[in-house]
Amino acid sequence: MTFITFEGIEGSGKTTQIRLLMDWLRQRTDRVLLTREPGGADIGEQIRGVLLNPENTSMTPEAEILLFSAARAQLVREVIRPRLADGWIVICDRFADSTLAYQGYGRGLSIDDLLRITEFATGGLWPDLTVYLDLDVETGLRRKAATPEEWNRMEAQAVAFHKRVRAGYRKLAAADPGRWLVVDADRSVETIAKQIRRRVEQMIAGE
Ligand code: TYD
Repeated sequence: MTFITFEGIEGSGKTTQIRLLMDWLRQRTDRVLLTREPGGADIGEQIRGVLLNPENTSMTPEAEILLFSAARAQLVREVIRPRLADGWIVICDRFADSTLAYQGYGRGLSIDDLLRITEFATGGLWPDLTVYLDLDVETGLRRKAATPEEWNRMEAQAVAFHKRVRAGYRKLAAADPGRWLVVDADRSVETIAKQIRRRVEQMIAGE
């Protein structure tokens, strides 16, 4: 059982790297599942719609964190835990660390409160490996702006917000280097993919 999450700011190339890792894993096993946060299951996708709707400008930070957590609680119990229990590899596009980085370091909510809410939501489940694609904010936002249809409520935040998010990720990663793989995302797609594969291969071999 292996639980791998991907984290990073907007435009860090998460989606591309997840796809490449999935392609590689699927050549090795049928027992690999990709899911995403917020969403990944019916109820979660409905909550995602509320969270990412640009019209919901009056959403309070507290409501936002509880909605993210509600989606996560559902996803963990409905999808992630059952698959892990059956011996699958589960890859999740964002997980609890997004809450710590965005709502905690980004919006300034108490990290202790967020950890308590998160532990409740996940039942204490944390990833075995978190791949963090580290990229400077200007480069990330520039990449994203190239695809305006992907613009959403979260991405409309100020550059300063994203800088806090990035600093938060780096702090989280530094505090738990055994779980986090920090990847310099300002390199070629293939170089990054190789670095990620190497680490995942070691993990799978070590089981
Ligand atoms: P999404 O369109 O999935 O963005 P990305 O492709 O960058 O993953 O939107 C998810 C947004 O929600 C993203 O801006 C990060 C944010 N988010 C939080 O603020 N807190 C959370 O706990 C999670 C899971 C996501």
